[in-house]
Amino acid sequence: MALTITPSDQACGAEVTGIDLTQDLDASTIDEIRAAWLEHLVLSFPDQKLSDDDLERFTLYFGPFGHDPYIAPIEGRDHVIAVKRMANETSPIFAETWHSDWSFQETPPAGTCLFGITIPPEGGDTLFANQQKAWEEMPDELRARCQGKKAIHSAALGYSKGGLYGEGDADDRSMDIIHSDEALATHTHDLIREHPETGREAIYNSAAYVIGYEDMPDEESRALMMDLYHWQTRPEFQYRHKWQPNMLIMWDNRSLLHMATGGYAGHDRLLHRTTIGERVAG
Ligand code: SIN
Repeated sequence: MALTITPSDQACGAEVTGIDLTQDLDASTIDEIRAAWLEHLVLSFPDQKLSDDDLERFTLYFGPFGHDPYIAPIEGRDHVIAVKRMANETSPIFAETWHSDWSFQETPPAGTCLFGITIPPEGGDTLFANQQKAWEEMPDELRARCQGKKAIHSAALGYSKGGLYGEGDADDRSMDIIHSDEALATHTHDLIREHPETGREAIYNSAAYVIGYEDMPDEESRALMMDLYHWQTRPEFQYRHKWQPNMLIMWDNRSLLHMATGGYAGHDRLLHRTTIGERVAG
């Protein structure tokens, strides 16, 4: 297949055309997509009428399925979740905070696939922030504060009983979110993380899932979190993804932060999502 890869004019992202993802892909095409994914970090594939079988098959070209905690899969599937919001829903927008998917896991997912089914006529863009670029361009003073540090990740702020999606969440949320005490568990990861496939370093930190830094007093942790947050989400590191129905995107969780946005009150929005697990070496 002759793929056409058109980079965005923003900090990352590229559109891929000249391919039909409802068909099986051969090894060289998969390699080409993987190389483009590692280079551009977010790929979008417009005009793909994918079934859930297609979405799962595409995901498995790039790794095993990741494990999705706290969100029940859609009926009849173990690995597809629905990111959805009804026109009249009042609950806070799901995932409207910068994060890297499930970074609180011991082995967080390498990537995520998201397929647009019902797309509102306005709003609902997904924002990405390139954390390789943010690290490369970070001022020396902040860089020195990050070197050699480990960040403590937890799902507590979102998915514990007292979290955003916990007992106090709006009654009318249409997403099937399951809060749990398991969300109080923590895992540490290098704050500056080497990409397992490209070796490129990126900031691995988010306001959603990082609750502090190992061996650092609280006040210093809070100051580092604020300074890092302001730096890593600057507009010059961002790509704004605009959706169309029947568009698939895949992104690299090891190099990016992302967040949902609102602006579509009065309209339904529905996307199906899978996560790409990290490939085990050997
Ligand atoms: C997500 O974080 O998976 C949701 C992104 C979106 O709804 O735009």
